[in-house]
Amino acid sequence: MSSLSLREVKLCLLGDAGVGKSSLVLRFVADSFNENSESTIGASFMSKTLIVEDQTFKYQIWDTAGQEKYRGLAPMYYRNAAAAIIVYEITRKQSFEALKHWVKELRQFGPSNIILAIAGNKSDLESQRQVSSDEAKEYADSIDALFVETSALTADNVSYLFEALSKRLP
Ligand code: GTP
Ligand code: MG
Repeated sequence: MSSLSLREVKLCLLGDAGVGKSSLVLRFVADSFNENSESTIGASFMSKTLIVEDQTFKYQIWDTAGQEKYRGLAPMYYRNAAAAIIVYEITRKQSFEALKHWVKELRQFGPSNIILAIAGNKSDLESQRQVSSDEAKEYADSIDALFVETSALTADNVSYLFEALSKRLP
């Protein structure tokens, strides 16, 4: 007997400008990539249905803008979110430090039971790596977050990120 159920999941993406939040969403939702991706203004919304182990997840995705001037808008998008993906780029250490600030902010002002995933994006740029997988994994473990290195460019691990996140939802 299979029990098919539909779950609506409000998800928000956070992280520094240029780390690839919109690109990850575009890869997940439309399986495409734009190398001239424009910096997001305010936030953008997309939805996508995903089936994982007989459960249907309808993701309502808020892709926030990473630029500093939009920072104050973030609470509108993480409020009531069931999950957040916080993105950094493996090629820029500073974006990993910024991620830690987002985690602190979520801890302080976000939903108490929010499920967290950390995505180390641009894994295709291995030769420019500044953040080791071990360091990021250790940090993710310390805050009980899922950790995945992704590439929106090659699509590596992007589906996996959303599937693994789905399995963590209560
Ligand atoms: P904001 O909207 O300003 O917060 O930025 P963002 O995080 O949405 O970044 P966006 O997806 O717009 O990507 C920024 C740049 O990085 C674009 O030129 C993308 O084409 C590029 N990019 C995104 N993901 C990848 C990736 O996995 N690998 C490589 N090599 N480039 C990527
Ligand atoms: Mg964007």
